[in-house]
Order: sequence, then C-alpha cells, then structure tokens
Amino acid sequence: MIVYAHRGARGYAPENTMASFERALQFNTDGIELDVHLSKDGHVVICHDHTINRTSNAQGLIRDFTLRELKSYDFGSWYGSAFKGEQILTLSEFLEWYAPKNKLLNIEIKNGPIIYSDIEEKVIDILHKFNAVGRTIISSFYHPSLKKAKELDNQIKTGILFECRPINPLQMLIEANADYLHPYWQSLDKAFCQHAAASGVSINTYTINTCEEYNFAAKLGVNAIFTDYPALFITRT
Ligand code: G3P
Ligand code: MG
Repeated sequence: MIVYAHRGARGYAPENTMASFERALQFNTDGIELDVHLSKDGHVVICHDHTINRTSNAQGLIRDFTLRELKSYDFGSWYGSAFKGEQILTLSEFLEWYAPKNKLLNIEIKNGPIIYSDIEEKVIDILHKFNAVGRTIISSFYHPSLKKAKELDNQIKTGILFECRPINPLQMLIEANADYLHPYWQSLDKAFCQHAAASGVSINTYTINTCEEYNFAAKLGVNAIFTDYPALFITRT
C-alpha cells in the first residue's frame, strides 16, 4: 500500500512544517500530504486550519495576513520547544525542496467555508513550474475546486474527499470529474470498495493511525493511506 505522511509526519513534528516534511522522508514515505490556503497577498501557503490560532504563536485568519506577516510567526513552539522558529512555508518553497526527490504529493485545497477563488490556478501553475504534475494528486472536500482544477488542466489527477458514506461514491466522483476516492476510513465497507474496484477507481483513505486500521484498509484493498505515523507502516507491504 502507498503511504502518505499526513500533514507531513505530524505524529512526530509540528504539522505542515519543514520539520514534519523532513521527518516524513526520514521514514522513507512514498509521499506527503499537505493543506493549502491563500495569504492576503495571494501566496499559496501550507497550513491546515483557516486560522493560525492552533499552530502558531499568533491569532487570525490566513487570508488576513500577508506572507511577510505570516513568516514572522512561530509555527513550531506550540508543538514543542525543539521546534521553535519553524516558519510557515509557501507551496513553492516546499516544492523547491521536495520536487527533486521524485516522491508522491497530495495537495489538499482548503476551500470552504472561506473560498479562495483563484487558488486552483495558482496551485496548478506552481506544479507546472516545478514539473511535479505527474506525481501529484489535488484533493478537496470542496468538490467544485476539483472540477475546476480538471477544467484548467486535464492532466492533473484529483481525489474527492468525504467523511460520510454516500449512497453512490462513484456518482460523486463522476460529477467532480475526479480520478480517486479519498474517504474517511470509517466510511469504507466491502460493497463500497468492490464497486470502486469494479469501476477501476482507486481508494486513498484517511487517516490510518493504528495497525488495526491499517489491516482493515488492507483487507478492503485500498490503494493508499494517509497517516500521522508513517514509521508504523512504511516497512509493511
Ligand atoms: O487528505 C486527507 C486528510 O488530510 C483530510 O482531512 O482535515 O486532515 O485535512 P484533514
Ligand atoms: Mg489534509
């Protein structure tokens, strides 16, 4: 099974920072998952929440700060003093480091409830700049972003994120013109997985953090997992 380090290896370092991304590669993960937003001045920046309240030493919405302001905050100390001084990264800064490594990447666009109207174009432009389109999946809980990404660039692979167990996940996939299903692992079941397999659609599931969860997903034949603890799974086949 393919293993993506979720928000970097966030079980061991502050999520979505260079420390967590470096840690993911130390565990030799197949890929990294990260989340993106737009700053006030239009930079694609890596962070999970719409605010920086939980993961920095400041408070406020990402969209209300310029990149320069965001860079002045500490995104590591909340996790532990050893990580003091970790800065927010732009997607370009991340790819400058990550693209030459030829590993897989999942970029989750965090649209909704705040909508960044041109984030899809910006993400795709950056992926092209770093020649990383072929190894990347763009995912989102906001499926219109995925439909738009596909309209902008038919080559880009996309995955629909969802937490519930829809009646027909494949119908959602078709409506978004997406390539992969990215369900919460607890919404998986045999009928769901058999239907996807029969349609030739791969399932990448989040967030698998225990061996029991891993075995459950493996038994159902999922293609990839997102995990906070890649060290637990990376040696498994
Ligand atoms: O891509 C899987 C996972 O990242 C989705 O949820 O909230 O951790 O971004 P979240
Ligand atoms: Mg995510």
